[in-house]
Amino acid sequence: MTVNVEWKTAEGGHTGLVADGTCLLDAARRHGIALPTECGGRGECDTCAVAVEAGAALLSAPTEAERVRLGAERLAAGERLACQAKAERAGDLVLRPVPQAAREETTEETARDFKEEFKRLPLRKKLATLAGLEAEMAYETLVRAVDLPFELMGKGLDLIAGRGRRLSQADRTRAKPAAEPTRPPTPGSDPGHEGPAI
Ligand code: FES
Repeated sequence: MTVNVEWKTAEGGHTGLVADGTCLLDAARRHGIALPTECGGRGECDTCAVAVEAGAALLSAPTEAERVRLGAERLAAGERLACQAKAERAGDLVLRPVPQAAREETTEETARDFKEEFKRLPLRKKLATLAGLEAEMAYETLVRAVDLPFELMGKGLDLIAGRGRRLSQADRTRAKPAAEPTRPPTPGSDPGHEGPAI
């Protein structure tokens, strides 16, 4: 038995056949439709969500992962996770990948958006942004996400390090007990020694 799948994507339509029992993610791959799969198809994100426009009755029952990730409202609106739902009965299925705006961004998408935004900032704001990121992003993530020229990244990191040093200097000053007044050395005493050796 075969299932006829029609994909409606932003780029246009695509139709293909799959055997019953095929999960929608595999169907998409076979038909050349690239669905994002941030969790690797384990049902732990919602990046592979598709809206079922026709043929919902041909699909397997929603899994626990779909109930958790999509919730009752999105399931009722006809959304399914492509990595979880299977085309189980022959017939015609019409599917539309859920656009990014309607679901949570993937990490990659967030990094890409950040990178684009960052490129448009003037230099002063770029450095201020870097300084603000010190507590939130590890160095490697920052380099990967921002793709800065080396000198600029060096400047930004100097700035971050300087701010960190100033902060810890301030912390140390706050935590330090008040210093005792220094006594002038008595004649004949060793200035490096504060008292008699015991
Ligand atoms: S790929 Fe993450 S839920 Fe399907």
